[in-house]
Amino acid sequence: MNCRNRWAWWLGIALPGLSLNCAAIVLLACTLVIEMTAPVARAEVIVTEFGKTAEGTAVTQFTLKNSQGAVVKLLSLGATLAEWHVPCKSGQVDDVVFGFDNVAGYESKDNGYFGCIAGRVANRIANARFTLDGKQYELAKNDGPNTLHGGVKRSLDKVVWKGTPIEREGERGVEFKYASPAGEEGFPGTLSCTVKYTLSDTNAVRIEYEATTDQATPVNLTNHAYFNLSGAGSPTILDHELMLAADHYTPINDVLIPTGEIASVVGTPFDFRQFHRIGERVDELTAKPGKGYDHNFVLNNQTGQLALAARVRDPKSGRVLSVFTTEPGIQLYVGNFLTGAKGKGGKTYAYRSGFCLETQHYPDSINQSNFPSVVLRPGETYRHTCVYQIAVE
Ligand code: GAL
Repeated sequence: MNCRNRWAWWLGIALPGLSLNCAAIVLLACTLVIEMTAPVARAEVIVTEFGKTAEGTAVTQFTLKNSQGAVVKLLSLGATLAEWHVPCKSGQVDDVVFGFDNVAGYESKDNGYFGCIAGRVANRIANARFTLDGKQYELAKNDGPNTLHGGVKRSLDKVVWKGTPIEREGERGVEFKYASPAGEEGFPGTLSCTVKYTLSDTNAVRIEYEATTDQATPVNLTNHAYFNLSGAGSPTILDHELMLAADHYTPINDVLIPTGEIASVVGTPFDFRQFHRIGERVDELTAKPGKGYDHNFVLNNQTGQLALAARVRDPKSGRVLSVFTTEPGIQLYVGNFLTGAKGKGGKTYAYRSGFCLETQHYPDSINQSNFPSVVLRPGETYRHTCVYQIAVE
C-alpha cells in the first residue's frame, strides 16, 4: 500500500464513526514514522539536464557511481562518455577522459570527437564514396578527400540520442538509442542503433553496441574517448606504456587511408607485443599529416569473442587501462592533431596529451575487399562489445 492509499484507508475507517480513538492515532503515527524512515532504494543513475544544442534540443547527463569511488558521466549528445573519475594508487581520484563543461564546447571546432560514439562508419572512407550491391554512394568530404567518422552534420557524435537509465540488480548504466533515417549523411537504410554503457564495481565501463537496418549499409561504430591516465589535462601521454595484442597493423597512405597491406609489426615502431613507452619510438613516424601513431592494429583474436586487445600503464599514477573487444581491429591515435583546446575545468588538452584506443573494423573496409566486411544487411544484427577497465598497480 502506498502512502496515499494508506491515508485514504485510515480516513475511510476513522471519519465515518468520528471515533478517532487513541490506539488508532498511535498506530497511524507509527505507520507514518516507519514509512518515512524506511530505507529508500538509492537512485544509482542520476539524471540531470546538461543544456541545449544550438538547435534547441535538450541534452541529458547521466551520472553513475560504483562502490570503489568511481564516477562516470554520460551525455545523450553523441552518447558520449564525458567523465570518468577513478582513484590512482594513492587513492586520489582524477577524471581521466577528455570533455567539456557545456554543450557549446562539444559543438565547437575544439571537439576532436571527445568520448563520443563515432559512426555510422568510424574512421575514414576513401574519396568519400563506396559502391554497394552495384550502386555508388557519395558522402560528404570532411577530411581532405575522405569522409571521417560518419560525415558532417548528422554523424552519430552530433545527434542527441534517447537515453534510459538501467538500474537493475547489480547493474548500473544507460541505454542510448538513435534511429538514423535512410539517406542521413548519404548512407543507405534506416539504421537503428543501441549503445548500452554499464559501470561495474571493478571499474569496468562496458559498451555494448547493436544495430539493425532495413537496407544493406556499412556500419562500424566505436567509442572515441581520449584518455590520460594521470588525469585529463596532464601534459603528455608519451610516458604511458602500451601493450597491444597485435602481430600486424594496416599501413596507411598520405591521407591516412590503409594501403590494403596487412604488415607484420616485427622490427617496426608498431611492435607493442611487449610494453613500450608510447614516446619511445613515436618520432620515428615522420610521415605527414599526423606524424605519430594513428594506425589500425589487426588484433590477434579474430574469433568475435571478447578478448584482451590492449593495456596501458601510467607509472606516475599507477593506473592501468585494459581494453577488451569482440572487434577485429583497434585504432591507436595519440592526439597528433590536438592543439591545446580548453576542456573541463579550464584544463588544456595539449598535443599528444591524450590517446584513443578505438575498437572497430579496419578503416575504409567498405572499399577494401581483403578486410573483414562492415556490410550489415536486413535481418542481421551488428553486435560489438568493448570493455575499458581501470585498475591500479
Ligand atoms: C581518430 C583518427 C585521427 C583523427 C581523430 C580525430 O579516430 O584516427 O586521424 O581524425 O580521430 O581528430
